[in-house]
Amino acid sequence: MGDRFDLDEVLRARGPERYELHRQLLNPQLPRMLHAIGFDKIYTRAEGAYLFDEQGADYLDMLAGFGVFALGRHHPEIRQALHDVLDAGLADLTQFDAPPLAGPLAEKLLAHAPHLDRVYFGNSGTEAVESALKFARYATKRKRILYCSNAFHGLTTGSLSVNGADSFRKGFGPLLPDTAVPLGDLDALERELRRGNVAGLLVEPIQGKGVAVAPPGYLARAQQLLHEHGALLIADEVQCGMARTGDFFAYQHEPDVRPDLVAVAKALSGGYVPVGATLGTDAIFGKVYSSMDRVLVHDSTFGSNAQAMAAGLATLHVLERDAVADNARAMGELLISRLRELLGRYELLGDIRGRGLMIGIEFRRPDSPRLRAKWTALQLARKGMFAQTVVHALFHRHRILTQVSGDHIEVIKLIPPLIIGEAEVDRFVAAFTDVLDDAHNGNSLTWDFGRTLVRQARSR
Ligand SMILES: Cc1ncc(COP(=O)(O)O)c(C=O)c1O
Repeated sequence: MGDRFDLDEVLRARGPERYELHRQLLNPQLPRMLHAIGFDKIYTRAEGAYLFDEQGADYLDMLAGFGVFALGRHHPEIRQALHDVLDAGLADLTQFDAPPLAGPLAEKLLAHAPHLDRVYFGNSGTEAVESALKFARYATKRKRILYCSNAFHGLTTGSLSVNGADSFRKGFGPLLPDTAVPLGDLDALERELRRGNVAGLLVEPIQGKGVAVAPPGYLARAQQLLHEHGALLIADEVQCGMARTGDFFAYQHEPDVRPDLVAVAKALSGGYVPVGATLGTDAIFGKVYSSMDRVLVHDSTFGSNAQAMAAGLATLHVLERDAVADNARAMGELLISRLRELLGRYELLGDIRGRGLMIGIEFRRPDSPRLRAKWTALQLARKGMFAQTVVHALFHRHRILTQVSGDHIEVIKLIPPLIIGEAEVDRFVAAFTDVLDDAHNGNSLTWDFGRTLVRQARSR
């Protein structure tokens, strides 16, 4: 190895060892899981909605890095913006100046939420949520945050306190004193508000887990109740925001919903640079940053860094210019309607739901005894196992990457890049139909894989 750092050389020499190194030095369960399900590919390149392996085979990416690649991978204009910002040689992160790109990005974000006035930039989704929790508690001088059953807001301790799944929380307590209410249940919300000391309700307008959509009218009525009780509405748009559902923010689907705080991350930098943003009202920010003494009361070393801001500006530019939200809406409607056509045809298919390109496919217990026995065997081993077999079959038979949308539920989730077209919709629907055909014909690869998973689970 020469004196100069050579990234290509690191990739060439060490890339092939990636799974082994991960096993030895990082989270050992990740490679173990990937080997077990045969997802341990070596991808060599990626473009748009596709990943390519060593043999050059293309994989349709309906997962988009958990939703970060809204504009697809390697968008040339975002890449260029990143090259440009490095070439500009800015005096970034001086910590004692106003960073030049943060203002323009805040301005662009706020243009999509005109009732809000200010932005705090952090480095991830969970940090955007943590900031909202702190701001809400400080501004209201109250302690309790209400959150929704099945919610996911990130895995740092504050966000974990408002996580709706015990599997994530267990063993990490004591957490913040918060209370879950079911998404859509206004009576439960009102009951908790009456108990008092509520700073706000944190809610994903469309939940990532299970792709549960807030019922019509819920957010507006919740907002009214919260405000009547002096509490805040906090929207977590980390996954469903940034044009994914066909509106810039998912809460905009219905008029009159104006959250007091909005958390954004994931797609904000086009998938390139970790970033998070918390948007809020002047009144809230004015309380948190109420005097010069409190200038750094909530801050982060890398917040507003030039690369994240540049990537964010380029991403918003492209999203707006190319009307990406309209494409997400149109392709989402097409995909949802094509999938709904399958509902009557396959008894294993229970529900197709979502909005834009955030889509949940739920499976259900079949009626025919032949399939029901197989389904029950999988369910006994682990709930959610059938959805895993479908994810597996889509990947191995059709080279399509999807995910189950949470533990112990029979739902797979589609959150592809928002730039997909009819070719990708056709490919997915044809592949999914083939997998369902296979599953319904009983003696199939899909069930065989389910049995393998069960055996593995038992041996563990
Ligand atoms: C709705 C929601 N909020 C917050 C987060 C946390 O984001 P991050 O993983 O960037 O911390 C996620 C991540 O999936 C999310 O889906």
